Amino acid sequence: MADKTLAHSGSSFKGRFITFEGGEGVGKSTQALRLRERLEHHGIEVVLTREPGGAPGAEAIRGLLVTGGTDKWTPMTETLLHYAARRDHLDRTVLPALRAGKWVICDRYADSTLAYQGYAQGLGVDRILDLHKIVTDNFWPDFTLLLNGGASLGLERARMRQKTETGQQREDRYERMGKGFHEKLREAFLDIAAKNPQRITVIAAEGRVDDVEERIWQCVKDRFGLE
Ligand code: TMP
Repeated sequence: MADKTLAHSGSSFKGRFITFEGGEGVGKSTQALRLRERLEHHGIEVVLTREPGGAPGAEAIRGLLVTGGTDKWTPMTETLLHYAARRDHLDRTVLPALRAGKWVICDRYADSTLAYQGYAQGLGVDRILDLHKIVTDNFWPDFTLLLNGGASLGLERARMRQKTETGQQREDRYERMGKGFHEKLREAFLDIAAKNPQRITVIAAEGRVDDVEERIWQCVKDRFGLE
């Protein structure tokens, strides 16, 4: 029998589902943390999570995706792994939190699959949208913040971050996919945003972290009517 648990949009829950999207090293994780603090100041309970990952099984799948050779998977296999991780994450982390009235902030979601696998790896948007319907019952965020910054600036920041990581296998498989790949991604995300203007707001990621935080907060406040 079909599992109907996902047959709702985020907005039918008391909690809200907010995602951050963008290329490598544009500051998503920092801004996701800061948004959590802001919301918590408003007395909102927040679960901060990420994709791929965010639940034990999904984190195990993440390991397969973010380490090793860049041509380790074909685009379809890679997409299926992301969707296996996504379903696990929804079942174990995102949906239980939303049902409990908590807000969920997620560092990446399905727009990343559209941009990385659909556009940049050439699988095509339609196949991913079909898969999204099958795997998630077409479950999309209430609101998505797309951090838009220069591709080379982002890659540099991401590499700096890698250098400070110690003791585990480097999670840099996507960062090694080349500058052309990352430039395509930026265009891809902007195209996805243009096609989903109700859900996605583009935020300029350049400038001081505090300024970016303020831009994001204004958008979130307006969107959800917070004071
Ligand atoms: P992170 O470094 O932002 O945590 O993400 C890990 C990598 O996974 C990042 O380079 C983007 C990539 N990715 C995809 O290719 N497709 C997806 O669906 C998701 C969620 C991430």
